[in-house]
Amino acid sequence: MTILVTGAAGFIGSEVARALLARDDSVIGVDSLNAYYTPALKRARLDRIGASSKFRFIKADIANYQELTAALTGLEFSSIIHLAAQAGVRHSITHPFDYGKSNLDGHLSILELARARKVDHLTYASSSSVYGGNEKTPFSETDPTSAPVSLYGATKKANEAMSASYGRLYALPQTGLRFFTVYGPWGRPDMAYWMFADKILRGEPIEIFNNGAMGRDFTFIDDIVKGVLAAHERPPGADRHFHRIYNLGNDRPEELMTLVTLLEKELGKTSEKIMMPMQPGDVERTWADIGRARSELGYAPTVTLAEGIKRFAAWRLSADYTF
Ligand SMILES: NC(=O)c1ccc[n+]([C@@H]2O[C@H](COP(=O)([O-])OP(=O)(O)OC[C@H]3O[C@@H](n4cnc5c(N)ncnc54)[C@H](O)[C@@H]3O)[C@@H](O)[C@H]2O)c1
Repeated sequence: MTILVTGAAGFIGSEVARALLARDDSVIGVDSLNAYYTPALKRARLDRIGASSKFRFIKADIANYQELTAALTGLEFSSIIHLAAQAGVRHSITHPFDYGKSNLDGHLSILELARARKVDHLTYASSSSVYGGNEKTPFSETDPTSAPVSLYGATKKANEAMSASYGRLYALPQTGLRFFTVYGPWGRPDMAYWMFADKILRGEPIEIFNNGAMGRDFTFIDDIVKGVLAAHERPPGADRHFHRIYNLGNDRPEELMTLVTLLEKELGKTSEKIMMPMQPGDVERTWADIGRARSELGYAPTVTLAEGIKRFAAWRLSADYTF
């Protein structure tokens, strides 16, 4: 099987590509290697995927359909795992057009590509951000998602609606995965756990938003990769109008201060904390109800925050970290 993976140089995409190759699938990886965070990290992730006759990397912007299809001319693939996007809630306040391009135009390009190539299944990344200020916990797939509190969340909600329409219009099997705060080695430098680690190691104070009254359902990368692969193996059929959504979280919301304490313990340093107000676009709490993924996909996350942060910190302090 050959699977097209978009965002293959990204955090989740590179790990998904590695897992597919490890089970002997072939992978075509697409990524623009944009500079939202250091492209050196993206290139290092590609190096880590390694040279293999089963892996081919293509640098292309998915928001440009002509560029994308020209780059893929002559290449065959039977399904798509679409993980390229402009991520980050806070950046969407300052750079809204990046989200319009990569997340709206980009998602449409991938839908059109999937339709033109008649793929068996398109699995794509949505986000817990679609739940916006949902106060009912845990968040379940049947909860309302019509009031996102960030443009990022709004583009992910739009992706789900666009995909639902292609399911009904073209019988294109698709699965949307709402990821909940994914973290781990080779992760994302724009996320709180990474920024805190940098500051703790440099002896700089760390800013704690909403005075620490924040909770997140942190999900370790290995658990997410298993969920992505399990979902991708099960394309939805006509009974679901060819479109299905799953929460992929950890079902264990943790306080922000627990994250800080664990990082300090594993990095062997403490830090001064500066209490800050809530940031625009942020939500106080996320918590995934993973019952649907558990029963339909056999999804069963196993890595606790304590164990995951231990693994992240070990990597952060290792020679592999050069960013
Ligand atoms: N990491 C999380 O906690 C999290 C949570 C919810 C949802 N998600 C979603 O999961 C997916 C993967 O996230 P990630 O954490 O790996 O982010 P990432 O930023 O590490 O990876 C995304 C990759 O997509 C690429 N990309 C962006 N725009 C592109 C474009 N127009 N054309 C081609 N490539 C482009 C980037 O260069 C990057 O390598 C994204 O859709 C993200 O929105 C992630």
